[in-house]
Amino acid sequence: MKKIVILISGSGTNLQAIIKACENNIINGQIVAVISNKADAYGLKRAKNAHIPTALFERKHYQSNVEMDVAIGDFIAGLGADLIVLAGYMKILTAEFTQRFSGKILNIHPSLLPKFRGLNTYQQALDAGETEHGATVHFVNEQVDGGAVILQAKVPIFPEDSVADIEARVREQELQIYPLVVKWFVDDRLKEIDGKAYLDGQLLSPQGYAID
Ligand code: GAR
Repeated sequence: MKKIVILISGSGTNLQAIIKACENNIINGQIVAVISNKADAYGLKRAKNAHIPTALFERKHYQSNVEMDVAIGDFIAGLGADLIVLAGYMKILTAEFTQRFSGKILNIHPSLLPKFRGLNTYQQALDAGETEHGATVHFVNEQVDGGAVILQAKVPIFPEDSVADIEARVREQELQIYPLVVKWFVDDRLKEIDGKAYLDGQLLSPQGYAID
C-alpha cells in the first residue's frame, strides 16, 4: 500500500476529505503522517481523531527555510513516503525540497491556474470581474503554484457574490477533486515526466484532465 504524507497549515478540510477516502478504501493508501508548520492548525486535531501520527515543524526552530525543509524532507524520507500532499500548506517550499521529491508532490490551489497565483484568489477574481473561478490540483515544482496541472474544477461567479460565497463554492469542488487525484496517483495512473502530467500514459492538456 502506498504511503502518503500530508502537509497542512490550517483547517484541514482537504485533509479530512482524503482521510475519509482512505478510510472508505476509495484511496488504496495509508496516511503515515500529517505535518504542520503551525501548532494551532485545526487539521492536527483531525489527524489525531483519525489516529494518524502528527509532526510539527516550526520555522522559529530553524536558521533558514532550507534547513527547515531539509528536516521535513529527512522526516518524510525516513517514513518511506511515496506521495506528499500539500493540503493548505501555506509556506513556500524551497527548491531543495521540491527537487528532492520531484514528481511526488501534489498541491491544490483555489484558482484556475495559471490565473491568480498566491493569496486572496477569491478577491483577485472578483476584482478582475471574472465570471468563473475554481480550483486546480497540480504537481509541485520550484515555482509557486507552478507545476503541471492535473485537474481543474470550475464554478460560476454570480453578480452579487461575496468572497465567502465563491470560497464555499470552490471548497465544495476541492473536496471532490483532491481525493480523486490522490487516488489516481496511488493507483499508479498518474505520473509526472519531464515536468508534464500523464494520466494512463496520456499527456494531459495545460488545463489538466477534461472531465466533460
Ligand atoms: C484550500 O482552499 C487550498 O486550496 C488553499 O488553502 C485552503 C486550505 O484549506 N491552498 C492554497 O491557497 C495554496 N496556495 P483546508 O486547510 O481546509 O484544506
